[in-house]
Amino acid sequence: MTYARAKYLLKLKGQEQLLDYYDELSESERAELLNDIENTNFNILKNIEKRPAKKLGKISPIGAVTLQEIARRRQQFETVGINLLKEGKVGAVLLAGGQGSRLGFDKPKGMFDIGETHKLSIFEQQMNNIFDVTRLTGRHFPLFIMTSDVTHADTVKFFEENNYFGYPKDRVHFFEQSVAPACDFEGKIFLDKKYRVSHAPNGNGGWYSSLINSGLNKVVERENIEWLNVYGVDNVLQRICDPVFIGATVLKRCRCGAKVVKKVCAEEKVGVLCTENGKPSIVEYYEMPEKLKNKKKKGELVYCYGVTLNYLFNVHDLNATLSGKLPYHLAEKAIAHIENGERVVPDKPCGFKFETLVVDMVKMMGSCLAFEVDRSREFAPVKNPTGTDSVESARALLKQNGVIL
Ligand code: UTP
Repeated sequence: MTYARAKYLLKLKGQEQLLDYYDELSESERAELLNDIENTNFNILKNIEKRPAKKLGKISPIGAVTLQEIARRRQQFETVGINLLKEGKVGAVLLAGGQGSRLGFDKPKGMFDIGETHKLSIFEQQMNNIFDVTRLTGRHFPLFIMTSDVTHADTVKFFEENNYFGYPKDRVHFFEQSVAPACDFEGKIFLDKKYRVSHAPNGNGGWYSSLINSGLNKVVERENIEWLNVYGVDNVLQRICDPVFIGATVLKRCRCGAKVVKKVCAEEKVGVLCTENGKPSIVEYYEMPEKLKNKKKKGELVYCYGVTLNYLFNVHDLNATLSGKLPYHLAEKAIAHIENGERVVPDKPCGFKFETLVVDMVKMMGSCLAFEVDRSREFAPVKNPTGTDSVESARALLKQNGVIL
């Protein structure tokens, strides 16, 4: 793209600030910036105007397979799950494309060392959890790892350097998700560098379309994989391809399953699995009306099932339902950018990132099993350095579960 063309386009889009430092740039930097502008999806910004307060449908609580039922039927569920795993019908997808900005760690979150007396990265801890299952089944399921331009190179290198933590290398497949521009609250796209347009990963909802774009769906087809267990990098107690969860979802004839925990209090910042207009739906904590959030019956929260970012999707049903587009959400985030010629790294949200969310896929599936897990054994999210959902709280929970740090 030429300078004249970029200037014309940006004027049309109201984004002329992207050329503010053009005169200061070297030839190669100018070329880089013009190329970036050419590859920017300006249409995504329309989501700011389209953002009326989200209207929820009729919300009702959802029934779950409770801890008690799971304890009663554990063996039955587990047998079905183990058989499917032994037949190679299940794969796992790790969502590791996020920037993890709250943690304040400048590498991919999975590389964060959660150990105390010895090194133990989040990636390694999660791989150790995987070995609990492969020891049972004697078979290594394919592990698809979604990265983004910000995490890809470091993540692949880290797995290489650590010899894939002992997992067969040919069972691990990396793929990159797409990015979207990041802007201030007025919709003006930031510059990340004077010669670079600010872009951020476009949310974890793009995992299936990105898997298809990467061509890795061919592996899914070739291996006749029927179920994909999608999980986040945050939770160090995450049970991956848990046979009991798989068996329960299959026996309950659901198109997808979600591992949920009982919320500790009404204010806990987790999405809640419930039904919306009769269909399973996840309502984010900031979207839940106060009245429903606090509603209790016999002293217990009525909307009590928080999601843990561990979902099981039926591949056939994914293909059948996901031809429609996922909506973009505006995530208010602290975004590093150029301001008055200097790069600033704010500690408070200063603009929007545009994200599609995996929770919207659950809604599209139309059927979802809420599968309750014991939070002290399976839920240790690492979002912040200290306090709630932090490195501190996750370390304490790991130790409680016998992991030597
Ligand atoms: P979060 O919602 O915690 O976002 O991601 P984040 O970007 O990692 O962290 P903050 O908000 O900046 O602190 C939940 C999961 O979704 C993945 C993350 O890697 C994590 O496993 N994710 C998030 C992606 O894979 N891609 C994205 O674009 C966003």
